Amino acid sequence: MKLTIIGSGYVGLTTGACFAEAGHHVMCVDNDPRKIQTLLDGNIPIYEPGLATLVKKNVVSKRLQFTTSTEDGVNYGEVIFIAVPTPPQPDGSVDLSYIEKVAREIAVCLDSYRVIVDKSTVPVKTGERVSQTIRRYAKAGVEFDVVSNPEFLREGSAVDDLMHPDRIVIGGNSDRALAVMQKVYEPFVAPVLVTDINSAELIKHAANSFLALKISYINALSEICEISGADVEKVAEGIGMDKRIGRSFLNAGLGYGGSCFPKDISAFIAIAEQLGAPLNLLKEVEKINAHQLNRFLQGIREALWVLKDKKLAVWGISFKPNTDDVRSSVAVNLIEALVAEGAKVTAFDPKGMEKFKELPLAGKVTLTESALEAARDAEALIVATEWPEFATVDLAELRDVMRTPLIFDGRNLLDPEAAASHGFQYRGIGRGTLPGLV
Ligand code: UDX
Repeated sequence: MKLTIIGSGYVGLTTGACFAEAGHHVMCVDNDPRKIQTLLDGNIPIYEPGLATLVKKNVVSKRLQFTTSTEDGVNYGEVIFIAVPTPPQPDGSVDLSYIEKVAREIAVCLDSYRVIVDKSTVPVKTGERVSQTIRRYAKAGVEFDVVSNPEFLREGSAVDDLMHPDRIVIGGNSDRALAVMQKVYEPFVAPVLVTDINSAELIKHAANSFLALKISYINALSEICEISGADVEKVAEGIGMDKRIGRSFLNAGLGYGGSCFPKDISAFIAIAEQLGAPLNLLKEVEKINAHQLNRFLQGIREALWVLKDKKLAVWGISFKPNTDDVRSSVAVNLIEALVAEGAKVTAFDPKGMEKFKELPLAGKVTLTESALEAARDAEALIVATEWPEFATVDLAELRDVMRTPLIFDGRNLLDPEAAASHGFQYRGIGRGTLPGLV
């Protein structure tokens, strides 16, 4: 099939490359000529494992092409996916102006039947608005259908998530459009759930909020573990063994960050309130998430007494491992708080330093070439992102390079007993009874 993706950012580009890999012919559109030029030159503007290879391969086989022209895109694909940003507004609700603009642009180019798909994460009832907008701006009598087909990809494993999804959700109100969408997903082996548009839109917000809720639940438990001398790792294991609960997303830590969860949770709260069905439970989730970082910072202050002029090493800047994305990263918030208190922060991240350098905060932080280098002469080490390579750093060497042997492990990545046996004082999250506590 011929497919068009409007918006060649994180979601659009990855989705386009995976559709091409599955055998479709895909045209990716973006209104940023520099981004399109970068892609035409064979470069990928983001880091995502496996994506560069996939893009190259499908460009060579001519199944993937790029353009800045929405008109060419609308003429090309039988299905037009909208994958433009839906950023948060100061009140937490979503800025839908990019979606609305693209809907208008598609409308004026429409000549014959097209399925127009909302891929971006949008609040419930957006599909109805997109449909009204296209109807208003399109030529009289031209046929189209609007479908909601949310993405569930995780950064760092986006290619695999798209090629082997847990489920595909297609929300549509017309049999004609649903039949077209079934064809789009024919090459993928995954259960397809067909719903109405509103339910599909809700599924996306509800799924992400549930995952944030799960993380926040274990984070709330981590506090009572610390106070009572229990170990949150064991508690997570014990409750996670119940198949109805499951062990995943029960990792206690500094809380969730990234470009999806914080934004989606506040967007869900905002739309629920707007529609008169408030989700106060999710407001509590947001509070727990913020409290988790504050609590951790308080622990650092208590142990170090004064932060001003202390050299502190931070391992990890990206919002999670295997990505270079630093947007809404808790690690960045942590660094910001330390810098604001006058600490001298030295940081290292395997992939996130380039994107971090674009932030004004980077000017106040020393970035190093390796994890050990960041820790040199440091008065404490803070683990902010759970990159697997941090767990394999030689603790004897680490002990040697640091000025004082203190570890604050915000992701429970290191082995506390191993740390203690190398003379470290160790403080994790919710690891109440372990030896060598700070
Ligand atoms: C998420 C959803 O997983 C995905 O389905 C959706 O489409 C987009 O949002 P992503 O933002 O890439 O994907 O990251 P994810 O792996 O879900 O992690 C989100 C945040 O939660 C990270 O900051 C991570 O560190 C944190 N997290 C995750 C925890 O603190 N504990 C956990 O147990 C799991």
